[in-house]
Amino acid sequence: MKEISEYQSLVLEQLELLEAQKRDLALYDPVSYILSLGGKRLRPVLTLLATDLFGGNLEDSYKSAIGIEMFHNFTLLHDDIMDDAPLRRGMQTVHEKWNINAAILSGDVLFVQAFVMVTSCKEKYLRAVLDLFNVTAIEVCEGQHLDMEFETREDVSIPEYIEMIKLKTSVLVGCALKLGAILADASKEDQENLYEFGVNLGIAFQIQDDILDVYGDAALFGKQVGGDILANKKTYLLIKALENASTEQSKSLNLWLNKSDYNSIEKVDAVTSIFTELKVKEQADKVMWEYYDKSINFLNKINLPKENIDYLLDFAKTLIERTK
Ligand code: IPE
Ligand code: IPE
Ligand code: MG
Ligand code: MG
Ligand code: MG
Repeated sequence: MKEISEYQSLVLEQLELLEAQKRDLALYDPVSYILSLGGKRLRPVLTLLATDLFGGNLEDSYKSAIGIEMFHNFTLLHDDIMDDAPLRRGMQTVHEKWNINAAILSGDVLFVQAFVMVTSCKEKYLRAVLDLFNVTAIEVCEGQHLDMEFETREDVSIPEYIEMIKLKTSVLVGCALKLGAILADASKEDQENLYEFGVNLGIAFQIQDDILDVYGDAALFGKQVGGDILANKKTYLLIKALENASTEQSKSLNLWLNKSDYNSIEKVDAVTSIFTELKVKEQADKVMWEYYDKSINFLNKINLPKENIDYLLDFAKTLIERTK
């Protein structure tokens, strides 16, 4: 196995090759922009890593891995419009730097390019790869739909929240891993356990994202801290706060949730204070680690040498403990 940074470098190399071949049309400027802003490159790294784990040829996975990163970046272009987000990876979001139409259309073309890349695999894997990617892409849309629908609901339960983040975020993490395993001819059983490892890890990953959205260091996080609070996102933190609030806290939370004219800093400060009083971060941390443990249970079922299992276990831990 390679160092994670080596897989990241391979991803970067492949992205640079594509950038050098791109058509000279302004449509693609936001695509180049978002893909050049970096990010953790988590999903393509997982695809390459999975191929490597099962003894496949890394070069057979490059295109599909890049396709998964393209798909992820497409979702971010549209997600940032939907979430009215000003910042992405420490830079202006595409709809702010260009405009909403540019972010929609460059997202659309990136989505199709993602398909082209993901399906540029060896013919014998095409059916399995397409089935997995199609189901995943539909689920991500369903998750994004629920995320938006929940903004205007105040009775969202924790199980509903978990289902929503599973769809919008975790299935793509599972898909990235399973894709790499398919391309390395891993057994069906190993593919499934790896997928479940990814899905449970993805749930923990999104809970951490929700925590960082409130408690992250703005300089490191690269996104607007407090964005979820401003959008009334039903995160684990808000749902738990609504469940556990005293009469007074509940009155205050509901006031902020229903106000349409407010000062952003005041709203973020007030809601964050209630979260802190109710210790919802600690509760979210606990649940996050429960999903991490669940993911590790699936990892331990995979037929791989212990050193490889430990490698994945360590990587999973660094993801959960991240600051951005
Ligand atoms: C952001 O994903 C969207 C979520 C699912 C939380 P990442 O946190 O992987 O973003 P980048 O690609 O590293 O910027
Ligand atoms: C991520 O949800 C889900 C997708 C982009 C599909 P968020 O809205 O929490 O992601 P960030 O925080 O903007 O990266
Ligand atoms: Mg968002
Ligand atoms: Mg969102
Ligand atoms: Mg977020």
